[in-house]
Amino acid sequence: MNIYLIGFMGAGKSTIAELLCDRLHMELVEMDERIVKEQGMPITGIFEKYGEDHFREIESALVRTIAEEGNTVVSCGGGVVIRPENTQEMKRSGKIVYLTAKPETIFERVRYSKDRPILNGNMNVEYIAQLMEKRRALYEAAADITVATDGRTKKEICDEIAEKIKEAPIC
Ligand code: S3P
Repeated sequence: MNIYLIGFMGAGKSTIAELLCDRLHMELVEMDERIVKEQGMPITGIFEKYGEDHFREIESALVRTIAEEGNTVVSCGGGVVIRPENTQEMKRSGKIVYLTAKPETIFERVRYSKDRPILNGNMNVEYIAQLMEKRRALYEAAADITVATDGRTKKEICDEIAEKIKEAPIC
């Protein structure tokens, strides 16, 4: 079984995934990092050269691969839930943890980031809030567990996930 961390850019997926995999003695996959490594170019480069659809194809192919690996904590890209087949694969192969944060918190965490093409030229709270609202139903429908991250330590967040994962029904 895998644990998939989903949520908006800057929700803390990568940071929490690193901590959680140590704690639960699982492997770690950071999806964007793996895509960058396999494609030999940064995410922004893939978007610029080949477009978002191509990036989403690569992302879906990676979800299918990871689903076969098992015992892995996966830090997903923020847009992974856009494609229903990704959510289906994740549900089939593990538990999905949705990390939430307020748009203001997200903004503070990502405001100086240059490697998030979706936010290039749109780095403001209003845009983040709008896009988050557009995706909210997808995140919520995918989630087995939801954990808020605003104003909390990494340890508190990990503790809550570890506790809730134990209780989450096994499909
Ligand atoms: C995206 C989120 C990014 C990355 C890509 C697209 C999105 O990942 O996959 O830039 O559509 O929300 P992070 O959530 O790790 O920033």
